[in-house]
Amino acid sequence: MDVADTLAALMAPAGRLDPYPAYERLRAHGPVVPSGPGLYVVTGYAEADELLRDARVRVSDDAVRDMLLPQWRDSPAVSTIARSMLETNPPDHSRMRRLAARAFTPRRIAAMRDVVAAQADELIDAMAAAGRGVDFMADFAYPLPVAVICELLGVPAVDRPLFRRWAADLTAVLEPEITREELAMADAGATELVGYFTELVSARRRRPADDLTTALVQAHDDGDRLSGDELLGNLVVLLVAGFETTTNLLGNGLAVLLAHPTAADVLRRHPEHAPAYVDELLRYDSPVQLTTRTSSETVRVGTVEVSAGSRILLLLGAANRDPRRYPQPDRFDPWRALSNPLSFGAGPHYCLGAGLARLEGQVAFTRLLRRLPALALSGTPRRRSRLTLRGYETLPVTVGELASVADHGAPVGATPDTP
Ligand code: HEM
Repeated sequence: MDVADTLAALMAPAGRLDPYPAYERLRAHGPVVPSGPGLYVVTGYAEADELLRDARVRVSDDAVRDMLLPQWRDSPAVSTIARSMLETNPPDHSRMRRLAARAFTPRRIAAMRDVVAAQADELIDAMAAAGRGVDFMADFAYPLPVAVICELLGVPAVDRPLFRRWAADLTAVLEPEITREELAMADAGATELVGYFTELVSARRRRPADDLTTALVQAHDDGDRLSGDELLGNLVVLLVAGFETTTNLLGNGLAVLLAHPTAADVLRRHPEHAPAYVDELLRYDSPVQLTTRTSSETVRVGTVEVSAGSRILLLLGAANRDPRRYPQPDRFDPWRALSNPLSFGAGPHYCLGAGLARLEGQVAFTRLLRRLPALALSGTPRRRSRLTLRGYETLPVTVGELASVADHGAPVGATPDTP
């Protein structure tokens, strides 16, 4: 199969459900391969990392959007995301990112640990109390990250259930291909989200609070450092990026742990290994599988020359399984010497919430395994038909009995041993 056919297979429903065979076929053509005029596909780890850090390789600007989707300004979904830091280049990107980054200091993230643990425990208690099979996605993987990002943004708890549909519809615009119907739904989701944040912004302007929304409103009001569109675009992206991806880390990660009971058992007994486990789960089945860039000049990467003005499809999920970086890449192995997967990207757009997402994963998996030792699949999980944001629609599980555990999650009387 040539590169264009393999790419078509990747975008087709079967490829979206399981992209890994198509990645291997693409890899056979080399780590960076041209596919038709003005498009390059990257499956190599080193090459993707290098391109993401190269200042000549940029996210789409308005001119590129005009070329790809001339009516993009009429699409609330595309135009909202276009005004956020995710799709802005320096110097605007650096200005926005600096403002938002103030809320993501390592100290502030570490201080979220108790919030995350309390939320996780509350959801575990509710699943156990339900006493029957539950859908892990609806009952844990969605509500945990939503609660955490809403706490940071200062979104009232009663409003949290609103976001699931709106955000799921909106993120279709991050897919490499989108149908007219999907775009219409994405636009409807964006309109709801922008409407929601417009009201929250006026509420915080009237009565400031100690939250990220107030901080960004003040950045807008003091000397116009953030325009009105930028303020709303960034709030929407923070909310959506804050949970769509983390929900999928929790769902994809739990499915992998349940399929590897011996490894799961080691983590259950040794929560101190949670950071290595979470990084390997991120590598093994990345919640974000791809991103795109445009070259502003001709750029040489390895032996390939990417010509100026080309689109670059960076397959992060494939780079994370590059055998030159990760021996036996299809094996789940939390004891790898090298980790640092590209799941959070690299370079100037490196995920702002990476520390928070890692913390959520570490706390959630250790508490789930310890407090629900009989947690098991109870039916066939169903994946969403998305390539960029890879995750489950439903993940049916039985939770079994709640274990009696000490305050910090250690089983009473357990003696640690070495894995
Ligand atoms: C497992 C969970 C997560 C994954 C896999 C993930 C992945 C990513 C990736 C790959 C990018 C870079 C996109 C690109 O270069 O084109 C990114 C950017 C971003 N992420 Fe995350 N993310 C996660 C969680 C979060 C959380 C919890 C937040 C917020 C609280 C967040 C906020 C952001 C923001 C604001 C950006 C844009 C940064 C910029 O453009 O400078 N993400 N994320």
